[in-house]
Amino acid sequence: MRQDHLISATQLSRADVEAVLDRAREVAADPGKFRERHAGSVLALCFFEPSTRTKMSFESAAKRLGVDTVDMGSVESSSVKKGESLADTVRVIEGYGDAIVLRHPSEGAAKLAAEFVDVPVVNAGDGAGQHPSQTLLDLHTIREDHGLDDLTVGIMGDLKYGRTVHSLAAALTNFDARQHFISPESLKLPRSVRFDLHEAGAQVREHTELEEVLPELDVLYVTRIQRERFPDENEYRKVAGEYQIDAETLEAASDGLTVMHPLPRVDEIAPDVDETKYARYFEQAHNGVPVRMALLDTLLGGTQ
Ligand code: CP
Repeated sequence: MRQDHLISATQLSRADVEAVLDRAREVAADPGKFRERHAGSVLALCFFEPSTRTKMSFESAAKRLGVDTVDMGSVESSSVKKGESLADTVRVIEGYGDAIVLRHPSEGAAKLAAEFVDVPVVNAGDGAGQHPSQTLLDLHTIREDHGLDDLTVGIMGDLKYGRTVHSLAAALTNFDARQHFISPESLKLPRSVRFDLHEAGAQVREHTELEEVLPELDVLYVTRIQRERFPDENEYRKVAGEYQIDAETLEAASDGLTVMHPLPRVDEIAPDVDETKYARYFEQAHNGVPVRMALLDTLLGGTQ
């Protein structure tokens, strides 16, 4: 990967993914080797939307590399509240950090920010757009269980607004992966995402019922219905509570199924799944640290 911005999973080649994930394996095997590797560097955290996992795991990853962090804080407590533009905000913040991690409610915000700064920008979620660093930790989790080829992956839930879905689907086109998308009609993949998958030669099928495909799956990636993205609360209510799984649902699954979720979950995975052999979502969230250490190491100019 170029030591540059990470805006979309579509910019990642197979070699890029494998390089970061190989580095993440190294980090996980010997974290001491990476301690203080980037002492003196500073990472700027700019979160215009709530986050637990992405923000804290980037911060934890930075600290484990010896990187200090500066945090814009909430929109309410920053000068964004006074009407400062995103372009001005990031132009100022590039003077405070050697890389910027940006989450924003508007699709395209990270791409726009990257046009105004010279330090690397990592898109930590832009509205219903992309979340590529989440994809890297998702692929790491899948790779540790199954490898990344000859895979059958089911992606279920909010495929319209789910940015982790859009990124994961794009990245999987680098691998021999059959992708099954399971959702209500109203939350199918956006046409543009489907078009890109088609152009990339992806093996894609769409379903409304999980039962149609569950026994074939190596991975079931469940997502939350993104209530905050619906322009009309009534439309949300029509689909809320659909596409839930519990331990009984998984009786039809193959033995080796891996159940994932980018989290936070609301009610789409019942707590009784947590104790099953399939559940991997908390481990997936924890994988954010070694994977983001590997990513920061790459973006900040890591050496072998
Ligand atoms: N998976 C994810 O992006 O979680 P957060 O919103 O808590 O960062």
